[in-house]
Amino acid sequence: MLREGIKEIDESRQGEAITIDQAVGKNKNRKVYIESYGCQMNFADSEVVASILTKDGYSTTKELSEADLILLNTCSIRDKAEQTIRKRLSNFNTIKKNKPEMVIGVLGCMAERLKSKLIDEEKLVDLVVGPDAYRDLPNLVNEVDHGHKAVNVILSKEETYAEIEPIRMGGNGVTAFVSITRGCDNMCTFCVVPFTRGRERSRDPKSIVNEAKQLFEKGYREVTLLGQNVDSYLWYGGGLKKEFKNLSEKEQAESVSFAQLMEMVAQIDPLLRVRFSTSHPKDLTDDVINTIAKYDNICNYIHLPVQSGSNRILELMNRGYTKEWYKKRIDKIWEIIPNCSISSDIITGFCSETEEEHQETLDMMRYVRYQLGYMFKYSERPNTVAQRKFEDDIPEAIKQRRLEEIIALHRENAHFRNNEMVGKIFEVLIEGVSKKSDQELYGRTPQNAVAVFPKENHQVGTYINVLIESCTTGTLIGKVVNA
Ligand code: 5AD
Ligand code: SF4
Repeated sequence: MLREGIKEIDESRQGEAITIDQAVGKNKNRKVYIESYGCQMNFADSEVVASILTKDGYSTTKELSEADLILLNTCSIRDKAEQTIRKRLSNFNTIKKNKPEMVIGVLGCMAERLKSKLIDEEKLVDLVVGPDAYRDLPNLVNEVDHGHKAVNVILSKEETYAEIEPIRMGGNGVTAFVSITRGCDNMCTFCVVPFTRGRERSRDPKSIVNEAKQLFEKGYREVTLLGQNVDSYLWYGGGLKKEFKNLSEKEQAESVSFAQLMEMVAQIDPLLRVRFSTSHPKDLTDDVINTIAKYDNICNYIHLPVQSGSNRILELMNRGYTKEWYKKRIDKIWEIIPNCSISSDIITGFCSETEEEHQETLDMMRYVRYQLGYMFKYSERPNTVAQRKFEDDIPEAIKQRRLEEIIALHRENAHFRNNEMVGKIFEVLIEGVSKKSDQELYGRTPQNAVAVFPKENHQVGTYINVLIESCTTGTLIGKVVNA
């Protein structure tokens, strides 16, 4: 359901809008500092925001002390994420006391969720901009410059920022995110994202392929195609997501599915690795699995969040699959891509979850033995179905204990998976210098395992073969070989 957004620009200012050219002149020496929280989508969005503001005359800075405009791209997924951001905003407000002309803005999910409350009640910011309103940023900052507070949290049915070339900030120059869908139509009952990011829409495949090509030409060697639910990507000319079966014959003929899109990106160059995130178990098709198998440069790694191993909880979560279905998907992946690694998100302590149901989640983890895992205590989010209909009745101490059990099992699994790789050779794309030693480099295998190895004369952004000699829970340790 798409909710109405609000746009609040003081009407008395109308007619005073300055042209882009004037604005560019005006903003020539202004610097924007952007801090991003939460999911990869937010980091990708910040790069779009940097692009929009750079066109408006700003330059980006990594130094807070240099900033004229501070933007926080925020996350609402759990209460803890919002608390972290509130603390950060208080810090910024302390700085602002000595630098009153500095503008502080909130972008992203928290902006969308709290809207003008961040200004009116919490008095923390000058500017509130939702995920679909970034093109309006120059106008909104202009409003703030004129002494007004500005809010635009209108959600769009079409916006994909398709033609905006993101400015890559702080990356390694080797791997980049490319957004392919925005929003989510799934309505998992625990999740605030459908409210903060609006309805699902797919981005024009031409603009996706162009962006990936340009990245490759600039020396990037890996793109991660991003969306809340990439498997339901479907392009048929723009606008809100429809089911394939509901398209006209012409639309069906011209449509591009996720598997086809991946193929288009994989064909740019065999040296460009393709990753994607996030897959939804109910939408991961055999076509997608077959396409991964068909191309060497599509990485053998699928992030396939299970959330829970109990059918009753999965139903309460509105996930649209059972544990049996999920296991069958896993079996299918391994049948077609035997060395495919799998990762997951798991929520523990969801409303009314029993000890037996918690055990079922552990059983699922024993079955799949995830390579990577992101594990969370359930955090009730305002206005979600779970908040309105179910009781958040698992005591904090029990949530904590269950989480610890899940994390302990995950560690064993991850160590098991890494151990499986010892003695084998993997192609690794070098991403940078290891944090622990400047004599070592690190990169990732196609299965998304991090490997470190001696630096010698190897170059960041190139592929090498690494023989894995030992491992820890999180890292493979090896040496470069020629084979
Ligand atoms: N509480 C805890 N975890 C959540 N996630 C989403 N909403 C919540 C919530 N209310 C987790 C899910 C999702 C990941 C991005 O965050 O596991 O896959
Ligand atoms: Fe949230 Fe579910 Fe959509 Fe993921 S698929 S963003 S968990 S509603």
